[in-house]
Amino acid sequence: MSAPILVFDSGVGGLSVLAPIRALLPGLPVVYAADNAGFPYGTRSEAEIAARVPALLGRLVERFRPRLVVIACNTASTIALSHVRAALDLPVVGTVPAIKPAAAASRTRVIGVLGTAATVRQPYVDRLSAEFAADCLVLRHGSARLVELAEAKLAGTVVTAADVAPELAGLTDQPGGDRLDRVVLACTHFPLLAAELAAAGPRALGFVDGGAGIARRVAHLLGASAPTPIGASAPTPIGAFAPGRAVFTRADAHVDALAPALKGFGLATVETL
Ligand code: DGL
Repeated sequence: MSAPILVFDSGVGGLSVLAPIRALLPGLPVVYAADNAGFPYGTRSEAEIAARVPALLGRLVERFRPRLVVIACNTASTIALSHVRAALDLPVVGTVPAIKPAAAASRTRVIGVLGTAATVRQPYVDRLSAEFAADCLVLRHGSARLVELAEAKLAGTVVTAADVAPELAGLTDQPGGDRLDRVVLACTHFPLLAAELAAAGPRALGFVDGGAGIARRVAHLLGASAPTPIGASAPTPIGAFAPGRAVFTRADAHVDALAPALKGFGLATVETL
């Protein structure tokens, strides 16, 4: 079997990036790694993330020998991507807020960035806003609650639009928020709540995330090994997936509760690092 790719997040959020990668490259073996012992990242300091993520990815790369790493976490990417690239001798794809496509699509020129508290305060977000959304009002809101809700949903708890509505209001209630028309889901956990978020808005909002773009980037970096043409949109049956495994940094009851959802993403084996 060929070497896998490694998809990394603090928790289940990276599954929202894994799904489009699997859809585009169903035959690619995957190791999905979640640092649940360090979860949540979004309330940690820059120094903690910058120290923890490169060291952990170093261990994971040594253990699984992937051909490519995807940091499927905006918090880790906006803080530690350059440190990780400097530490690892293989291609590393990061996940950064999809401000460029959101700004390109906005008619009202008011966009929102919904991420973790750590992500929305990053200079990386300032730079993306200046480069791609200079003529937009860019509202930001950090939410730890949505991260918890996404974890709970995948562990089998029912999450409703009413649960997520206060978090969306964190954007729409800001000055200018009444004109908001595009929301960047700048935390990989949030697309897992796409249906609830869409139902929670005061009006129809366009939600934008980077998953499909990351999948195309991975396919490009893997070159000829991409078995499915870019742009193929038909969902791939789970049965066609190459075997995937999920690795957590700590065994606990939450991980046990996630097993059925992980299976749905083609991750039949669950283990602890
Ligand atoms: N999924 C992560 C992100 O994209 C962070 C979640 C967390 O651990 O706070 O930012």
